[in-house]
Amino acid sequence: MAGVRERTQVGIIGAGPGGLLLARLLKIHGVDSVILEARTRDYVESRIRAGVLEQGTVSLLEEAGVADRLHREGLVHDGVEIAADGRRFRIDFRDLTGKTVTVYGQTEVTKDLIAARLAGDGAIVWEAADVTPHDVDSDRPRLTYRLAGREHELQCDFIAGCDGYHGVSRNCVPSFLRQEFERVYPFGWLGILADVPPCSDELIYARHEDGFALASMRSRTRSRYYIQCSLDDDIAEWSDERIWAELKRRFGPEVAPHIVTGPSIEKSIAPLRSFVSTPMQHGRLFLAGDSAHIVPPTGAKGLNLAASDVHYLCRALVAHYRRGDDRLLGSYGETALARVWKAERFSWWMTSMLHKFHDEASFEAQMQRAELAYLADSRAAQTALAENYVGLPF
Ligand code: FAD
Ligand code: DHB
Repeated sequence: MAGVRERTQVGIIGAGPGGLLLARLLKIHGVDSVILEARTRDYVESRIRAGVLEQGTVSLLEEAGVADRLHREGLVHDGVEIAADGRRFRIDFRDLTGKTVTVYGQTEVTKDLIAARLAGDGAIVWEAADVTPHDVDSDRPRLTYRLAGREHELQCDFIAGCDGYHGVSRNCVPSFLRQEFERVYPFGWLGILADVPPCSDELIYARHEDGFALASMRSRTRSRYYIQCSLDDDIAEWSDERIWAELKRRFGPEVAPHIVTGPSIEKSIAPLRSFVSTPMQHGRLFLAGDSAHIVPPTGAKGLNLAASDVHYLCRALVAHYRRGDDRLLGSYGETALARVWKAERFSWWMTSMLHKFHDEASFEAQMQRAELAYLADSRAAQTALAENYVGLPF
């Protein structure tokens, strides 16, 4: 090959939160990596996505030495509120589980991880084009890519596919070994970000006969709201005024007066999907995060699942390099999937309970109302929600 040849221990595809956290944790344990990212730094740092971190994710970011700003600026939440059928009730995480969650945007997590990486951990190759894994089932896997028109080859001991749902790594698991499980939901989420104070101290998840609504935040002066919308909706048809009016209607007369409106700084429509691809490993290729699984956002699990995958993968790679012990690498996919499936179940359940799927007069809508009425009055049901929301142990 006429081009640039390089070598590293772990070749990481993707500088999302999964790839960045993996690189940082590996470095702390003395393992080198190179991150290949298709997009620019600016693009990656300004992508607006998740906002809620489980306690276990916060601990991992502490272990990674990137939690100072998170502790200064993140908001610790002891519970969430649920609004349905004119009734509002609170799930008290601290009381029910002894744990909390932290509201801190994925954008900020990403910025902190990139800053740590660039302060001495190693390079991130931005705008790496046509990243392609080769020979993943041999003991000399390689990544090839193009950078500014030049061909590059990166020889690795292992490859981590942290390249999200649209990445290339999942397809390197041969199709005769791969099994995919999927549910596509018949609606989307319209999200709006605005520099206005949140309507409440805690998040509010609302079921309304016209569809789901969520009041979230990024700080005490920046709000994030979502509403269930049609997949056919064009974002251009949703003026800020229309979104605020719809939010007020769906949250009802108790919450509406507290919704402070203002110009949007971002708005977008995202589809909802449940998806798992197994196995999460093949030869020396290991998938982590959205490259292997997607959850619908209700329940805020996507980013947190990428973090728990990375924890298992880092632990397994460190056991290989420190002790020559490959047992954890051999069981990585199985270990990660056990937790993934539980988060898939929780996200599917939250989505099923809170969104409009059917006519309000249908049996299914009646079941949703019964589920919410049970949740409102049962400490056992609230505990089940709380222990999943704050994050199952890993
Ligand atoms: P990603 O964050 O997707 O990172 C993958 C990286 O790989 C990207 O930087 C991408 O550019 C790069 N890449 C892709 N292909 C290649 C390639 N061929 N070569 C090199 N690099 C490549 N979760 C929640 O919990 N709550 C939310 O509100 C929420 N909102 C979301 C909204 C949207 C629009 C999306 C898409 C996701 C949302 N999620 C949400 C999910 C959450 O953001 C993801 O679960 C999380 O980003 C997963 O991290 P990751 O590192 O696995 O993948
Ligand atoms: C946010 C997103 C979620 O999917 C969720 O369940 C809670 C909060 C957010 O973006 O703030």
